[in-house]
Amino acid sequence: MDGRPEQNHELEVASETFREWVREACDRVVAHVESLPEQNAGFDPSRALEAARNLVEPVPPEEGRPLSEVLDLVFDECVPQSFNAAGPGYLAYIPGGGILTAALADFISNGLNRYTGVWAAAPLLVELETNVLRWLIREMGYPSTARGIFTTGGSLANLTAITTARVEKLGEDPSRGAVLVGEHAHHSVAKAARICGFRNDQIHAVASDEAFRMDLDDLRRVIVTVRDRGLEPFLVVASAGTTDTGAVDPLPALVEVAGRENMWLHVDAAYGGAFMLTERGRHRLCGISEADSITLDPHKGLFLPYGTGALLVRRGAALRAAHHSEASYMPDFQDELGEDYQPMDFCEYGPELSRSYRGLRLWLPIMLHGMGAFRRNLDEKLDLIALAERELAAMPGIEIVAPPQLSVLAFRLQSQDGDGAAGDRMTEELLRRILSHQRVWLTSTRLRGRFVIRICVLSFRTHEDRMRECLDIIRDEARGLLEGRA
Ligand SMILES: Cc1ncc(COP(=O)(O)O)c(C=O)c1O
Repeated sequence: MDGRPEQNHELEVASETFREWVREACDRVVAHVESLPEQNAGFDPSRALEAARNLVEPVPPEEGRPLSEVLDLVFDECVPQSFNAAGPGYLAYIPGGGILTAALADFISNGLNRYTGVWAAAPLLVELETNVLRWLIREMGYPSTARGIFTTGGSLANLTAITTARVEKLGEDPSRGAVLVGEHAHHSVAKAARICGFRNDQIHAVASDEAFRMDLDDLRRVIVTVRDRGLEPFLVVASAGTTDTGAVDPLPALVEVAGRENMWLHVDAAYGGAFMLTERGRHRLCGISEADSITLDPHKGLFLPYGTGALLVRRGAALRAAHHSEASYMPDFQDELGEDYQPMDFCEYGPELSRSYRGLRLWLPIMLHGMGAFRRNLDEKLDLIALAERELAAMPGIEIVAPPQLSVLAFRLQSQDGDGAAGDRMTEELLRRILSHQRVWLTSTRLRGRFVIRICVLSFRTHEDRMRECLDIIRDEARGLLEGRA
């Protein structure tokens, strides 16, 4: 070396090579997506352990490998050994699907790699993302003074909500605060409360009514009990669509109780919130617009690929107050300018500073498809679950344990003598037989101690043909089991 630093360009890819790589990767993705309807709905996990063990590579490759070899590994070896969460038969857990226009947006934003943690670094790109937040705020019926932030998912949105409620209601001393959570609330809520520093004795479950919604009488009881113990209930977390059954807590009454008791009302609408885009959904989620904060999960109800949640806070200033932080090396933050235009410094509204340019993955699909396409797709999901409910209700031996409140229902097979444990065994066997067809993927849960099968319709790729196929499989297998066929 002659004293001048050696130039290293190894990480820069020649333009033509990059175009070829993009084409190659794109071809693989498109071929994969085209074959989704024929692909297995699930996979056999018994083989996965050995295969995963064989993939362990403690030392990274010192030299690069050809793209096609690497893509073979991903597409041919790894992808088939996974829940087919992108396929039309995925009616398990909470589906989403993964629209390709969002993948395109990720490609663009990662290629651009602009900094969007603060407004000053990319004001117009930040504005595009803020527009999406404005649109969601409007769809939820919130006022324009509401603010929001995109997170990686519902769990982080719930965490951000609890942080905000804690600062707003308890100030510097959270030690006497109590968090009240419906017994069917998603486990990320209690986890978030613990991460926020609340002890287990500060987190209280509220029982459910016969429709798996938060029981208001029990809520009132819990408030009294908690106060008797010297704690202050400052936060009640309701669900607008529980994970188990899609149950929607009685939001108008909860707004009233929370207001009277000086509690923050957070609504975890990670699963159900997107139905606010539809008329039926607005009716069923009535009251949500009065909640202090709402968790949404666009990677569920807006069909995005995994990695996007959102928190909206009705009084936006509270979200900012909980996350404001200063440092001399940071650019100036934007002041509250008024209702008509408010530049957003995202780092002022959530825990992250550097972040991916998350908004584009929702902005581009809305620009390309229009919001109407999302509304109509969500409406179709409500029609599909209504179809499932009608057909299941007519099947001998099937009991619908949780009728749909949104797009989930839960059912089980009853044993002829009414024995619950025998019914559990039969329902477990029914699920095993349904899954063995590899056309639909359903999951189970327990309700009132009994084993039930869930159907959750939320993928934009699920349509009537697959739902009817699912119902035909259930009908045949249930009949076979009741007739004692092996
Ligand atoms: C009701 C509800 N809340 C929160 C979550 C957590 O969301 P995420 O998995 O995006 O963190 C889920 C996940 O399924 C959910 O169903």
